[in-house]
Amino acid sequence: MKVNEAKERIEALSSQLEEHNYKYYVLATPTISDYDFDMLMDELIKLEKEFPQFASETSPTQRVGGQITKAFPVVVHKYPLMSLSNTYSEDEVREFDERIKKIIGNTFQYVCELKFDGVAISLSYEKGKLTKAVTRGDGIRGDDITANVKTIRSIPLKLKQGDYPDAFEIRGEILMLKKVFEQINAERVEIGEEPFANPRNTTSGTLKLQDSSEVAKRQLDCFLYGLNGENLHFQSHFESLKAAAGWGFKISDNIRRCKNLNAVFSFLKYWEANRYNLPYDIDGIVLKVDNLDQQQELGATAKSPRWAIAFKYKPESAVTVLNSVTFQVGRTGAVTPVANLEPVTLAGTKVKRASLYNEDQIEKLGLHIGDTVFVEKGGEIIPKITGVDFSKRKKNTLPIRFITHCPECHTKLIKPEDGALHYCPNDDYCPPQILGRIEHFSSRQAMNIDGFGKETIELLYENGLIHNVADIYELKSEQLISLDRMGKKSAENLIHAINESRNIPFEKVLFALGIRFVGDTVAKRLARYFTTIDSIASASVETLTEAPEVGQKIAESVYQYFRNTHHQQLIQRLKKSGLKFEILKSEKSGHQLQGLTIVATGTLKNYKRDQIKDLIERLGGRASGSVSSKTSYVLAGEDPGENKISKARELGVPIISEEAFEKLIGN
Ligand code: IVH
Repeated sequence: MKVNEAKERIEALSSQLEEHNYKYYVLATPTISDYDFDMLMDELIKLEKEFPQFASETSPTQRVGGQITKAFPVVVHKYPLMSLSNTYSEDEVREFDERIKKIIGNTFQYVCELKFDGVAISLSYEKGKLTKAVTRGDGIRGDDITANVKTIRSIPLKLKQGDYPDAFEIRGEILMLKKVFEQINAERVEIGEEPFANPRNTTSGTLKLQDSSEVAKRQLDCFLYGLNGENLHFQSHFESLKAAAGWGFKISDNIRRCKNLNAVFSFLKYWEANRYNLPYDIDGIVLKVDNLDQQQELGATAKSPRWAIAFKYKPESAVTVLNSVTFQVGRTGAVTPVANLEPVTLAGTKVKRASLYNEDQIEKLGLHIGDTVFVEKGGEIIPKITGVDFSKRKKNTLPIRFITHCPECHTKLIKPEDGALHYCPNDDYCPPQILGRIEHFSSRQAMNIDGFGKETIELLYENGLIHNVADIYELKSEQLISLDRMGKKSAENLIHAINESRNIPFEKVLFALGIRFVGDTVAKRLARYFTTIDSIASASVETLTEAPEVGQKIAESVYQYFRNTHHQQLIQRLKKSGLKFEILKSEKSGHQLQGLTIVATGTLKNYKRDQIKDLIERLGGRASGSVSSKTSYVLAGEDPGENKISKARELGVPIISEEAFEKLIGN
């Protein structure tokens, strides 16, 4: 590509991507698929690599991260970040209102906003570009975390056309959606890591990560709620937020102008009842005097402005009785205590169980069976026990002792020195570990064996047909048919699905083995770096850490895994069954598509979306999401995108079938 063409394409891609970002993350009304978005992003990343002179500080590629910050520089805030005075009582809100009336009279309005439970951030913009993102710190100075903040898709790197001032600062709250938090925790538990406590702490921890590409993966979000600057010609706070929304910032829809305290109280009541339906956590409502001159007149105390107050909701809590504690064993052997409660209604749902996390938590609470306990629904979805009503404790009750032996296989538990969790070390014979491992192995993200779910696994295990994942590949349909609840057809389907899984690529097989701390990303990195299981198995801890994203903890776990003779035997058997234990030739990189740009559209027989993209790139080609005169081929599967096909016809770009594509790459 010629230099001026590259420059034009980079600019076009950048503005398209930024617009799609805005539609997706700020307006929540996307107009292209994730796949097409990724394709455009990949094209831009590649072009910027080739023509770094055109890669700008505000390019959408900054969203992907990659910058490592060793220590975050400390920056003095131009406008100190004051805190808010807060209250839990309506009477104190009335007193606040009275104080204001004494100073500015009766004619004023409030703006009521949600009080987001996240991490405060101050963003600086110059000539429409994000220049700095600084944490609150002590209010006077904070940490410059710009590289990390640039990965947050709802924060504009470049503003939309508008009459924004040359330089200004905008404040807001960075947060993590509850569903993202749950997903991250599910993945952590899955690989044997301890779950994070709540979305706020996770957000705060994430923003301090040194590698911004890790931050990017955590999918943080950000609402803005306050503008500061020299030449802002707004009359009111409300207007300023409306204007900021027009410049591209994400401003909450749940902001109300309130003429009097009655309107304020109905807003408070409404959100008290409905806050758990929001996709993120709030811990109260912020009341602000709307008119900016009136704000000035009211001024501030040493700590907080007199024109605003936070009304905080008491955490929703209930009182109930702790009936018993169950200890659950997961597939990694981690033992989690769960409290069984007398059922009680909390924040609109019936609660029967609460997580107790680990031994430290039980000791901190000083729990006895039969205790009357307080349960709260905080940021977490699973409620937790926050305290004991000691006045109600019955005589002669005993403190809960953490079990010393596995409740399932009675093996003595171990507790690694650097962790808070207990483990059952009997990996090979402890039933929930065996079942959990097989379930993980056959799951969709791993070997993807259709019909091989929890119930089937239990049935086969109870009948002595499987004991480990290698047994799966030695199952015969006659054995299956002989079981209750298994017809001829389902048995055949199952055998078919098992056979299909022999073709699953190495990186998925590696993930499927369920090595502690090896999630799907790490498995991918290890597979691509070492290319065969034998080289992973024989690598030293030090060599293992050479692979991207593999730290000491992961390396030690992988090293230990392969030192276990049972694991060695298991892998030998799986190898004999024909599973892939190395990256295949066709998966290795080649040059068949060097210099070609390929747009895939429609459903392909042999490749999923991300697989085809991966393959094109490994063979030296460029996978793109949009057809242009630069496109070499459009690879059309079933139901191809009409626009892409007609564009290809218009430009005379060859449209090829999946079969033709396979010939092209020599398969
Ligand atoms: S206004 C000077 N508005 O609450 C007033 N703060 O102590 C500046 N917060 O950590 C704050 N949602 O980050 C304001 N809608 C909102 C807010 C909000 C959350 C946080 C803020 C700060 C704390 C106030």
